[in-house]
Amino acid sequence: MPLVTMRQLLDEAAKGGYGVGAFNVNDMEQIQAIVGAAKETNSPVIIQASRGARKFAEDKYLFHLILAANELHPDVMIAMHQDHGNSFETCKSAIELGFTSVMMDGSLKEDGKTPTTFEENVEVTRKVVEYAHERGVTVEGEIGVLGGVEDGHGAGGTGLEHITDPDQAVEFAERTGVDALAIAIGTSHGAYKFNKKPDGSVLKMDVLIEIHKRLPHTHLVMHGSSSVPKELQDIVNQYGGHLKPTWGVPVEEIQLGIRNGVRKINVDTDNRLAMTGAIRKVFAETPEKFDPRDYLAPAREAMKKLVAQRMTQFGQAGHGKDYTPISIAEMAKGYASGKLDTRPSMAGAR
Ligand code: G3H
Ligand code: 13P
Ligand code: ZN
Repeated sequence: MPLVTMRQLLDEAAKGGYGVGAFNVNDMEQIQAIVGAAKETNSPVIIQASRGARKFAEDKYLFHLILAANELHPDVMIAMHQDHGNSFETCKSAIELGFTSVMMDGSLKEDGKTPTTFEENVEVTRKVVEYAHERGVTVEGEIGVLGGVEDGHGAGGTGLEHITDPDQAVEFAERTGVDALAIAIGTSHGAYKFNKKPDGSVLKMDVLIEIHKRLPHTHLVMHGSSSVPKELQDIVNQYGGHLKPTWGVPVEEIQLGIRNGVRKINVDTDNRLAMTGAIRKVFAETPEKFDPRDYLAPAREAMKKLVAQRMTQFGQAGHGKDYTPISIAEMAKGYASGKLDTRPSMAGAR
């Protein structure tokens, strides 16, 4: 089967009341880990590449590696998604390459750090939606700004400075027509999200629930959703790493989100930790080894195990063959006819 669109995966997830993990990739081993986990758990999956990933792996390598996964495992529903597109041009180039979904993160300027105005965000996102929908491609937008500076995404700070305003979320969804909406509820990218197990003072699940009440038909996206499990931190530190004590987003909070409209859950850091821990272990225990396969294979296996666990926890496991794929050309027709219109004011017409 061809690559599917993220919109189809999320529509099906909404019908089934589950979430779909979106896992970041930069190389072959990570792609194999995700597709292996999807096969094992019978899950549909979103594979996403950041701008950094596209630069690191080079567009063509990355795209063809994902196509290879698709060719080898045609029974796995894969959506290929641009993570944190910073401009119309970035999204356009992803679509030209063959991605079936893009994120236009218009909450920040092109530098990926400076918050934009609401009007600037609406304008650039709307432009991407027009271009993408004509081609059947899904668009995720973002309203509100994530915290954290560690990886260059986010405006810095604690993550509480730019929590999404539910009124703005409704207006944004109406004026842009995005298929999915990332909101800021206090999470940030990377390992250092919270300095203790988060409660409602720092992780604003109440805001998410309020947004879902106002936008019941919009697929919500949680970024910065790694749980940063203590076990993974311990493995890294046990074998010579230096991670400071930290907390991520507890899986039960993500599951609460899924019960309240969250359909896409972004996870990268947990996989980075799993791979790094496995590689460090090989280096520490068998320093005589120097064949990259000796540490890349355990790293790939550690990531596969983690992804499979998240697929089960998010509820996508078992849903890999519930439906037949809709081609991107069909999706384009659906947008043109208004059938796939997501604007809140059109909800009654759907
Ligand atoms: O958006 C954050 C993801 O973890 C990707 O990070 O930009 O370092 O590839 P990256
Ligand atoms: P984490 O850093 O929590 O894994 O978040 C990843 C993400 O949001 C990618 O867009
Ligand atoms: Zn993100």
